[in-house]
Amino acid sequence: GIGFSSQFNSGPLAYDDEQTGLREQTLIRFSFVVAENTPKGLAAQKFAEIVKQKTNDSIKVELYPNGSLYNENDEMEGLRRGSVQMIAPSFSNISEVVPEWMVMDLPFAFQNEDDVEKAFRGKIGALLQKKLESNGMVGLGFWSNGFQQMTSNQRPLIHPEDFQDLKFRILPSKVIESQFRLLKARTSPIPFNQVYRSMESGIVDSGENTISNIYSRKLYQVQKYMTISNHAFLGYGVLMNKSFWNNSLTSTQRQAITEAMQETTLWANQNAIAINQKQWDELKKMNQMDIHTLTNDERYEWQQALEPVYREAQIYIGKELIDAVNELRG
Ligand code: LMR
Repeated sequence: GIGFSSQFNSGPLAYDDEQTGLREQTLIRFSFVVAENTPKGLAAQKFAEIVKQKTNDSIKVELYPNGSLYNENDEMEGLRRGSVQMIAPSFSNISEVVPEWMVMDLPFAFQNEDDVEKAFRGKIGALLQKKLESNGMVGLGFWSNGFQQMTSNQRPLIHPEDFQDLKFRILPSKVIESQFRLLKARTSPIPFNQVYRSMESGIVDSGENTISNIYSRKLYQVQKYMTISNHAFLGYGVLMNKSFWNNSLTSTQRQAITEAMQETTLWANQNAIAINQKQWDELKKMNQMDIHTLTNDERYEWQQALEPVYREAQIYIGKELIDAVNELRG
């Protein structure tokens, strides 16, 4: 193998002398902000393995977890510049460059994972992929994390009025801002690897995230209350730099990557459900947070309070996407 520093500025070619002497290898640097042992981290490892197999080791996917190479503030720019070839930001982070991706942040848009898969595979997914191309990116797939839950240090979040004046850490998305504005809460976008400290020090007192992220980042140590609300979905677009895709890969390699992504995604999106389930069991056992599960009536109150997000979102994402989501909602 070769060290990080020697290849960092060396462009997409790397040399691997481990087995066969000097051998040309195309290098794909893949950066993400979560740890290895998360839905996205495990999907990335799986993808790297399958690509290695399918290309007879002619492509090496090198993983940079935990925001060690880029974080949310600069990974989209890094990808577009071509200093990293692959990233998998959350929908919200993509929406900063391609606003249509906010459609996936809409509260109560999806009842369950099946609805999310329908969105990925149907009209919504196709439109979101297309919008990336005009921004110098290729969308290789959609990876799931899971449904989001609300947490707070201040009080249990049961009714819409419980959110008033709380300070939420959010992902940077106008739809999410709008959601919390309707709940009369304040918001502050903070990169993932600063969330723990921000909650610990009280810069923010509340947040929304998946069980997996709450568990793997130990947010349960700095949040007293959690509400199982499943109010929105967290997932990722898997993105590649477009000119790298078109110019640095052969058509055989592109085919191999496409197949590897399909196989990975099928596995990863099932695995994400399993991880969230397993870590939910762990969280309950730990008994660190005071956990409330929304009743149907409470869920209905939240839905009513948040319905105006859809009208506002239409300004950013257009009628076609709002209609597509409403079709899913039935
Ligand atoms: C977050 O910042 O809360 C998530 O987007 C992190 C991630 O990538 O799952």
